[in-house]
Amino acid sequence: MDGIQIVGLDKRYGSVEVIKNFNLEIEQGEFLVFLGPSGCGKSTLLRMIAGLDSVSAGEIHIAGRDVTQLAPGARDVAMVFQHYALYPHMTVYDNMAFGLRNVNMPAAEIDRRVQEAARMLELTPLLQRKPVQMSGGQRQRVAIGRAVVKEPYAFLFDEPLSNLDAALRSRTRVELARLHQRLKSTMIFVTHDQVEAMTLATRIVVMNAGKVEQVGRPMDIYRQPASRFVASFIGSPTMNFVDVELAEDRAGAAAVRLPDGSVVQTTVATAGLPRSGRFTLGARPEALVIDDSGSAGLIGGRVELVERLGDQTHVHVALASGASVVAHAHRDSEIEAGAPVGLRLDAEAVHLFDESGAAYHAQARSSS
Ligand SMILES: Nc1ncnc2c1ncn2[C@@H]1O[C@H](COP(=O)(O)OP(=O)(O)O)[C@@H](O)[C@H]1O
Ligand SMILES: [Mg+2]
Repeated sequence: MDGIQIVGLDKRYGSVEVIKNFNLEIEQGEFLVFLGPSGCGKSTLLRMIAGLDSVSAGEIHIAGRDVTQLAPGARDVAMVFQHYALYPHMTVYDNMAFGLRNVNMPAAEIDRRVQEAARMLELTPLLQRKPVQMSGGQRQRVAIGRAVVKEPYAFLFDEPLSNLDAALRSRTRVELARLHQRLKSTMIFVTHDQVEAMTLATRIVVMNAGKVEQVGRPMDIYRQPASRFVASFIGSPTMNFVDVELAEDRAGAAAVRLPDGSVVQTTVATAGLPRSGRFTLGARPEALVIDDSGSAGLIGGRVELVERLGDQTHVHVALASGASVVAHAHRDSEIEAGAPVGLRLDAEAVHLFDESGAAYHAQARSSS
C-alpha cells in the first residue's frame, strides 16, 4: 500500500498523554501540514513518524511497510528541523554529501545527487562555502538540500522556516512549494503558522492538545471550520465572534439577536441547531463590510482604528454592546477613527457555534 498510514497512535510521557489515538491516511505525493498552537504535539507526532521518538501504542506504515519498530535510518524518510545544525567546518558540498558518504555510496552517485540538489535549490555557486559565510536563508536551503540528496520516500519538516525573517520566510516557502511540484514526494510539514499551512498544504490537519480538530483542504477548512477552535486559528485578521441569542426561525433559517438588541438574519439552517443554550456568531472580516449607504438593517458602531494595508483596509469597530469587531472597507475609503458607521453582514458567510464549540455554517441561498 502506498502512502503513510498512522493507526491508533498514542504517546505518553509518564502519566501525561501527549498524543491520543491519532489516525491518519496520507496519500503518496501529498503535502500534508500539521497545524496547531505550540505544545499541541506536532513535533512529537513527526518525531514518531521519523523514528526519533518511540510510540506508546499504535502503528506507522510507510510505503506498505510497518516501520513502527524500525530505526530512523531504515524508514526512507528525511527530516529538516527548525535549527539547521550544519557542520561548521565543512563546505556546503560536504555538508550535503556527508550522510551519503556514511552509507558508502559511490562518489559519482554522490556527486550527481549533490549537484542536482544544488541546482534545484540555487546553491551551485555556494558549494565551496562554509556555513559561516552564508545567510540564514542559504543555510536553511543547505539543510533542505541535505534531505533532498537522500531521495527519501517522504520529507518531514519541523517548522523549518521559523528562524528566518519575514521576507526570507515567504521566499523559502515558495521554494518549498516548487520543490514539491518538482519532486512529487510525500511531504509532512509541521507549523504553528496558518499562512504557511494555507499556502503549502494539499491538506491541513488542525491539531489541538494532541487531538485532531479537522482534516481538510485549505479552502474547505477556511470556509467550513469544524469548530470554534479551528475558526479562530485559521484566517488573519481572525474571525469576529459575538455572543448572540437565537431570535426566530424564518423559513428554516436562524435569526440571531446581538447584545444591543438588533436582529440579524442568517442562512444557517435551524434544523441542526441545539434548541437552547448560548451561541456565538462568527463572521470573518470580509463578511462584515463598511456600508455608508445608510440603508436599513445595518449594524451600528463607531470606528476605533483604521489599518490601511494598500490592497485592503481593515477597520476596527466598537459595536453598541461594547464588543469590538474587524471589518473590511474599500481600499480607497477615507474613513477615520471616531466616525459612526454601519456594517453589512454577509448572511451567507457566517457561522454559529454552540457552547461546545461545534460549528453550524450558513448555506448559500438558491439563486431563484
Ligand atoms: N521528552 C518529553 N518529556 C515530557 N513531556 C514532553 C517531552 N517532549 C514533549 N513533551 C510535551 O509534549 C507536548 C507536546 O510537545 P511538542 O510535540 O513539542 O509540541 P509542538 O511541537 O506542537 O509545539 C508538550 O506539552 C510538551 O511539554
Ligand atoms: Mg514543535
